Amino acid sequence: MPHFLDLASVTAPALRAILDEAHRRKAARRGLPKGTPDSDAPLAGHTLAMFFEKPSTRTRFSFDMAMRQLGGTSIVTSAGEMQLGRGETVADTARVLGRMVDAVMIRTNSHATLEGLAENAGVPVINALTDISHPCQVMADIMTYEEVAGLPVAGSCWAYLGDGNNMANSLIEAASVLRFDLRLGVPHGYDPDQAVMATAGCRGGAIDLVRSAAAAVDGADVVVTDTWVSMGQTEARDKIAALQPFQVTAALLAKASPNALFLHCLPAHRGEEVTAEVIDGPQSRVWDEAENRLHIQKAILLWCLGKL
Ligand code: CP
Ligand code: NVA
Repeated sequence: MPHFLDLASVTAPALRAILDEAHRRKAARRGLPKGTPDSDAPLAGHTLAMFFEKPSTRTRFSFDMAMRQLGGTSIVTSAGEMQLGRGETVADTARVLGRMVDAVMIRTNSHATLEGLAENAGVPVINALTDISHPCQVMADIMTYEEVAGLPVAGSCWAYLGDGNNMANSLIEAASVLRFDLRLGVPHGYDPDQAVMATAGCRGGAIDLVRSAAAAVDGADVVVTDTWVSMGQTEARDKIAALQPFQVTAALLAKASPNALFLHCLPAHRGEEVTAEVIDGPQSRVWDEAENRLHIQKAILLWCLGKL
């Protein structure tokens, strides 16, 4: 079953095919009204179920519009509105949804919920963010780099600054599968997931955990950060203090390659993980990155449904 659960569990050729399809479809529909289906409407007759245990703007709209542009439909709900919120098990929910829809997308607090859904649904399941990973977002980031640079991601050099969170974990997996260099500027105590690091290390990727923001960004092609307080976490003063030296400022970005792009999955907190000068400045590609959620989602859906 072609689930899209994590980047380490999808092969490099499959990730490459997804990226190529996203670039191709984006170019092919340029100028069309956003609600007009792609000319081939490859998912006509297909329905995606989406459910959210956490808030979302980009993921929710991009998957919904992705299904419309592919000629299919979607059903969106929050987990709290489902019987899941009253104690029905993930396994039973999965068995029911799998009888009614063609694929399921979930944003959940716990990676184990995602895995339980995938084990029982009998249809492809897509990870739209868990506590451990955010693979769809990182694919959109890679698409954005390739679009701006005009080059495949392999061989490029990325710097991630901040909390060793779900975004950091998915970047680590992407770097190891798609073969780009990744330097993680992360303070002690906020490291990425140990199992993710160990698996990526085993694959021989060039992934370095450094404790200095300047060392992380030195000559990098891409500088990426994320919120210091993820959904479901409580704001802690000692965490903010530890992360402060990893704030992306104009002075820090100046140490990257002169053409480096700045990425952020959003929502952003200007004055915390990034200054307004950087995120609203000329090297920032965050709006392209947000738009590319739509284009990459379409390619991920096509791969999951055997259309790539
Ligand atoms: N980047 C991202 O996943 O955004 P949302 O939380 O708005 O979906
Ligand atoms: N790390 C963030 C990503 C938001 C898209 C979070 O989990 O809240």
